[in-house]
Amino acid sequence: MDFHFLDCIRRTKQKTALTREEINAMVQGIVSEPLIPDYQLAAWLMAVCCNGLTDEETAALTMAMRDSGQVMQWNLDGPVADKHSTGGVGDKTTLILAPIAAACGIYMPKMSGRGLGHTGGTIDKLESIPGMRTNLEPEEFLRIVKKVGCAVAMQSGSLAPADKKLYALRDVTATVDSIPLICASIMSKKLATGADHILLDVKVGSGAFMKNDADAETLARLMKKAAEADGRQCTCILTDMDRPLGCCIGNALEVQEAIQVLRGDARNDLGELCLTLAAELLRMTGIEEIECRQKAEDALYSGKALERFAMMLEEQGGNPKIIDDTALLPQAACSRVLKAPQSGWIASMKSEEIGLASVRLGAGRMTKADAIDPAAGIVLHVKPGTEVLPGQPLLTMYAAGEAQLDDAEHLLMQAVAISREQPQILPQIHAKI
Ligand code: URA
Repeated sequence: MDFHFLDCIRRTKQKTALTREEINAMVQGIVSEPLIPDYQLAAWLMAVCCNGLTDEETAALTMAMRDSGQVMQWNLDGPVADKHSTGGVGDKTTLILAPIAAACGIYMPKMSGRGLGHTGGTIDKLESIPGMRTNLEPEEFLRIVKKVGCAVAMQSGSLAPADKKLYALRDVTATVDSIPLICASIMSKKLATGADHILLDVKVGSGAFMKNDADAETLARLMKKAAEADGRQCTCILTDMDRPLGCCIGNALEVQEAIQVLRGDARNDLGELCLTLAAELLRMTGIEEIECRQKAEDALYSGKALERFAMMLEEQGGNPKIIDDTALLPQAACSRVLKAPQSGWIASMKSEEIGLASVRLGAGRMTKADAIDPAAGIVLHVKPGTEVLPGQPLLTMYAAGEAQLDDAEHLLMQAVAISREQPQILPQIHAKI
């Protein structure tokens, strides 16, 4: 085929669909010589952002990106499942869900990423555990998954390399928030990871990439279609990200909160979401729907999931003693409590601002080269719907110095709204697709 990428840019600009062959040739040109120059790719990405892609183009792009690198295969003696969150604030569900799934006989080889913008990343959270290694070679990853049932590794560079290149370009050309591009980015990696059952936690709200239910639903349907076209089973759950998930934001703090839930303190929004996701995973792998929730609860409340978590830490070099003594996790030098200026009800806690404040405290990166402070972050003492009195603690900030606390305080005071009337709190689960 005589392939001219300039024609593809023109056609997408004019809303004329590209063929599967053209999309395959484009993805080839992203990862191998002759390379398409970045300025042309950036122009095409912007055309997609403005005009979208057809469902057929999105599916073709997803599959071509999946095939741009290694596609993993797991020959294990039980169901292999994966779960992915589209990104949120305080979202430490993988740390809880993977051991619950493993304790229920599901294999979960989980490839995760680092924090992105105001959202946290599972790899940064796990690396706050002294000694923990997430850069696992494929043989070691497989060995741990076989032995423990779960392992969490950094996304391998050989999986979907076309996404790595495109994602870096999107990040610096304001072309991240496009539904077809997000679908192709997430699903190319999920399909290359090789699980048969894929559970997608699509976050929706102010702290998520999808700000409203309609967009989240469109993204969910596209991702599900891509998974099913590849012969995988996929369920999407739309969950609330208008408020942070759980009470801790920041890497070591989130590990601490995950341990608390794994110890059985799960009667809260975080525990509830993890049990809902675990029950759904069990249903997807063929367990009778009526038994799933009970099985997930048994795995959690019996301590079996905590045992799997400890085994995973040990196998990945992390100090399992943190489970009994969380003071062994990194501790911040400075802290400050923010108090309620007036009485009333907590009407909202804007998760994007809270995520940004945690970045200012050192829990995330302002630029790719920044180092993370594993001890930095925020602990919320109240959540939307709590009634407060003047002077009551709202949250505690943790950082390496007073300057970071000053910086974040300003953002946090604007993130929390107190009203005279009791607010209506939206349910955590918006929809299941
Ligand atoms: N996560 C990804 O991996 N890709 C996107 O485009 C957005 C979130």
